[in-house]
Amino acid sequence: MGELRDRHGRVATDLRVSLTDRCNLRCTYCMPAEGLDWLPPEEQLTDDEVVRLVRLGIERLGIREVRFTGGEPLLRRGLVDIVQRCSRLGAELSLTTNGLGLHRSADALARAGLDRVNVSLDTADPETFARMTLRARLDDVVAGLAAAHAAGIRPVKVNAVLMRGVNDHQAPDLLEWCLERDYELRFIEQMPLDAQQGWRRNEMVTADEIRALLGEHHVLAPAVEPRGSAPAELYTVDGGPGTVGVIASVTESFCGACDRVRLTADGQVRNCLFSTEESDLRSAMRAGADDDDLVARWQAAVAVKLPGHGIDDPTFLQPPRPMSAIGG
Ligand code: GTP
Ligand code: 5AD
Ligand code: SF4
Repeated sequence: MGELRDRHGRVATDLRVSLTDRCNLRCTYCMPAEGLDWLPPEEQLTDDEVVRLVRLGIERLGIREVRFTGGEPLLRRGLVDIVQRCSRLGAELSLTTNGLGLHRSADALARAGLDRVNVSLDTADPETFARMTLRARLDDVVAGLAAAHAAGIRPVKVNAVLMRGVNDHQAPDLLEWCLERDYELRFIEQMPLDAQQGWRRNEMVTADEIRALLGEHHVLAPAVEPRGSAPAELYTVDGGPGTVGVIASVTESFCGACDRVRLTADGQVRNCLFSTEESDLRSAMRAGADDDDLVARWQAAVAVKLPGHGIDDPTFLQPPRPMSAIGG
């Protein structure tokens, strides 16, 4: 078995596959109201191409976890079928979604072999939701979360990005809302990956601030389980068993333990969210590359992964692809 090892000794075992760059929400910290120039359909990997690369990752390169992302992966028509075909390969399968329409497909996804789901929800307040997403369909997300839980998917995680003066003061409410429903909430520091390139270091709500906001209402204590390569630092809430996570990608970066590699919807390997180079497996596949060739290209792309994102370096430049086109 080969592996995806970089020059700093990290081994990628967690593959994140973006299935589309489209999204049906317009979270203001992510993309503009008018949307973006979506990929032309012929540039998107077909279902067969996705499954071929996932299979190579698992069978030849040591991938143990596969997470489907977007844009919004529920917009991909073949999603259930892709999950089903990948479920035979033996890796853990998960999904990161905005939850719209999840109530319709949660059962089918669970039956197809989906193990875990992470749903983005920044607030449980309908008005704030409408303001932050520019779409007023909070009920749909709430129904999607409930359907995933009812389908037996565990854990159901919730991802929340806080924006100063918009939803930061609601953080304790969201935590209580999630604890009541057995959802594992994680608060995420916003990273410079927005399409508008409007991110400012001094405007971001930091992990310290998040802990302080929650600490006004609850007692947080570091959880005992080892964190491993997970981006979230876990805390028990009021003595447990409920927990809350803080993903401090910027102020407490975890790049040294990174085990991720990404495949974009148009078939480019990215060794990091912030990489400036990509390796074009789609063109190689369509030019007739065999499995050995694809494996070698993939390994070469991971080998040159930089030690960290460098967000605080004076020379840092935001990558041209936004989060929605990389897959979070
Ligand atoms: P779990 O396996 O459930 O812990 O998933 P996850 O947290 O890795 O995945 P998810 O798609 O839910 O991502 C949540 C957030 O983690 C994203 O919005 C990012 O902010 C952050 N994140 C995910 N992957 C990376 C990464 O490779 N680097 C950095 N810096 N942040 C990441
Ligand atoms: N920084 C951090 N997280 C982000 N997300 C979207 N844009 C950013 C950003 N710039 C989050 C979404 C979703 C996850 C996939 O990524 O809220 O939960
Ligand atoms: Fe890994 Fe890059 Fe994320 Fe750091 S920023 S954790 S290196 S993907």
